[in-house]
Amino acid sequence: MEKEKDHIEKDDLRRGGENVIEITDLQKSFGEKKVLTDINLVVKKSENLVVLGRSGEGKSVTIQCIVGLLVPDGGSVKVFGKEVPELNDRELKELRTKIGFLFQGAALYDSMTVKENLEFPLTRVLKLKDQTDIDKRIKEALEGVGLPDAGDKMPSDLSGGMRKRIGLARTLVVNPEIMLYDEPTTGLDPITSREISELILQVQKKYKTTSIIITHDMECAKITADHIVIMEDGVYIAEGSFEELQKSDNELVKSFFSDTL
Ligand SMILES: Nc1ncnc2c1ncn2[C@@H]1O[C@H](COP(=O)(O)OP(=O)(O)O)[C@@H](O)[C@H]1O
Ligand SMILES: [Mg+2]
Repeated sequence: MEKEKDHIEKDDLRRGGENVIEITDLQKSFGEKKVLTDINLVVKKSENLVVLGRSGEGKSVTIQCIVGLLVPDGGSVKVFGKEVPELNDRELKELRTKIGFLFQGAALYDSMTVKENLEFPLTRVLKLKDQTDIDKRIKEALEGVGLPDAGDKMPSDLSGGMRKRIGLARTLVVNPEIMLYDEPTTGLDPITSREISELILQVQKKYKTTSIIITHDMECAKITADHIVIMEDGVYIAEGSFEELQKSDNELVKSFFSDTL
């Protein structure tokens, strides 16, 4: 019963709702190498969208086009209804304050405590001055990732999984409306991977973020995804819910889902 309800809500999310990210006919090459041929993608408000694809397919390139770090060769990339390549520096900066980016090698500053690591984006990016407000936000972000007492620790005192959590807290501390997770569980052991996947789900529920999660980790996809797209040769070849794609006849789709059945 619970599961059925869940399904209806997910379907409603895809049908209605605001398009927070809308990519149309996106193309990107590097020299002779065509990486993105024709990408079309919509991410709805408050949705967790998972992108699956083999290594080197252009998943990270797509994300860099969304945050304006790479300029597309053709097509349209809209975030909050605005064409990203057309934004000026000030507008781009403002957009980036609304986007949290957790990438694979996301490192903490080793010489700073956890609290100082979290303070950094608040004072440097948001330019906050009110220490009470700053402390409150840090406390909330640490609670949000399940490490309320880690503030005075140094990064070197933390396990890999805890560092990943703090990396996520540092991103959440500015209350981003969009979260981009690039291979969030790569390099983590299975138990920690599952914890991080559960955390991504909790972040969606708590902060109502709109997220793209790039992963190879099928358990992460199963835990976090409202909707999944699969990428091959610069285009998206299939999309649907985890359960729908599990039943697919497409060979590439099957290769991703074969171990999950
Ligand atoms: N800034 C860049 N300059 C040149 N080639 C790049 C650049 N960024 C990515 N590429 C190439 O684009 C392809 C896709 O990269 P990427 O998006 O990182 O793949 P993945 O799907 O594994 O994230 C790769 O062949 C990579 O070498
Ligand atoms: Mg990548």
